[in-house]
Amino acid sequence: MHHDNLADFHPQTILQDWGDGDAFRLADAGTGVCIFGATGSGKTSGPAKHLAYSYLAADFGGLVLCAKQEERFQWEQWAAETGRTDDLVIVDGQGQWRYNFMDWEAARPGEGGGLTINIVAILSQIATAVSGRTAKVSAGGDRFWDDALAHMLTNLVDLPLFAGLRISLPLLRSIMNSAPLTALQTEDEDWHEKSVCAITLHEGDEATVKGDADIRADFEECQTYWLREYPALSEKTRSIVDLTFSMLLRPFVTRPLRKLFCTDTNIKPEDAFAGKIIIVDLPIQEYRLVGKIANLAWKFCFQLAVLRRMPPEGGFMRPVFLWADEAQNFVTDFDAEYQAVARSAGGCTVYITQSRESLRRVLGNDDAVDSLLGNLQAKFFCQNSGGTNDWAAKLLGEHWLHVTSTNVARGSNDGTQQAAGQESRSAAVSRKEERRRFIEPSRFTTLKRGGQQNDYLVEAIVYNGGNQFLDPAGGHGEILPHKLLTFRQR
Ligand SMILES: Nc1ncnc2c1ncn2[C@@H]1O[C@H](COP(=O)(O)OP(=O)(O)O)[C@@H](O)[C@H]1O
Ligand SMILES: [Mg+2]
Repeated sequence: MHHDNLADFHPQTILQDWGDGDAFRLADAGTGVCIFGATGSGKTSGPAKHLAYSYLAADFGGLVLCAKQEERFQWEQWAAETGRTDDLVIVDGQGQWRYNFMDWEAARPGEGGGLTINIVAILSQIATAVSGRTAKVSAGGDRFWDDALAHMLTNLVDLPLFAGLRISLPLLRSIMNSAPLTALQTEDEDWHEKSVCAITLHEGDEATVKGDADIRADFEECQTYWLREYPALSEKTRSIVDLTFSMLLRPFVTRPLRKLFCTDTNIKPEDAFAGKIIIVDLPIQEYRLVGKIANLAWKFCFQLAVLRRMPPEGGFMRPVFLWADEAQNFVTDFDAEYQAVARSAGGCTVYITQSRESLRRVLGNDDAVDSLLGNLQAKFFCQNSGGTNDWAAKLLGEHWLHVTSTNVARGSNDGTQQAAGQESRSAAVSRKEERRRFIEPSRFTTLKRGGQQNDYLVEAIVYNGGNQFLDPAGGHGEILPHKLLTFRQR
């Protein structure tokens, strides 16, 4: 079921009819989705599955990151049921689908100086995520390692480019492994003859000596780094930079990732723009660090591709989703920045996670969490406990409520002494206005979690930015900032 007519992706297209005139539209997908809920609350089999069906049925392309082994099979089933099987691309350890992102970046026309920046960005994004740090968490000192690493990576990627070589991860690793460790070594003849770093420096020298003066000056900067700055780094700095780099690189140059990322290219992020659904079936559950690196590499390259996507002449762009269940495994602080811009490029993020805290643990502070969640406008809350419920209740806000109360006042409070049994009592019925939460935090603890005991129904309370929903119980046309949705698991 392919739409050849791009006008089919009109922003007002209804993806899900929520009843009472409410709907989730294509434009809502573009402003991002986050689904919260305890483990077993029905996130995956409830709101996530229904969103996936509607995205697939509407012919979205996408990238699916995998934390668990079952996700691939789940998507195969969802795609089959929506007629999208032919669009599935399963990137797995077999290596049938390969993406050499360095070659792909290098081959893009008109990029020039952007190439180093993009490749360094890809590598440092993965490195920081893998080392369990993010730039913003970093308490003082870590920021320094990140900068030292980025500086090293920039010089590392630049060097073979000056020499006119085709850059690859194995080449970068060889340069790094043969870089001089002391000033003395840079005068050693043996080092000059045998070190890949030295040989590449010589080739870079020859290639730039007679050319453009600016390029020559840049080369000399790079040369100074490898011959002077790098050997002069303190033992501690260099060992951390080296260790981070080899942790990052080793998986790429060994099985199974070498074949997937360091050979040729027969699938690329841009294929999602033509409707492909790319599943990174190297789940973290099974592949651990290697799986995380593979997923992050695909994720970041996909994000870059979306950010530089050009709108078609007339009509609308095919939306593409970036999907991550157990998203705490994949979030980085680039995501907020990405989603803020991605909406205008048809990028539709769907992140599914237990709680605000699970994001906070990875992003390190509340500001980073707020900035990510501020850019994922539609929030679905499934059954949950803990701080997420308080935050959700606060997010939905308060309203004025008419409260009828009966006060029984005892006269002893007026300061006069009264004999026992002679207390005066006055009862009064009063009506007043009180500020109340639309939803109390405890309401989220009782939402239906699916399974037989709930007739396979999953409940979620949805909040969609400024969207207003008619209160189904109100009868007076009261407007609510949220809506209770019920999803069938089967
Ligand atoms: N298709 C299904 N039919 C019936 N029960 C299901 C189905 N899928 C999941 N469940 C059950 O429903 C509950 C919620 O599952 P799930 O959607 O996986 O939760 P979560 O993704 O929030 O961890 C679990 O108890 C699970 O065993
Ligand atoms: Mg789940």
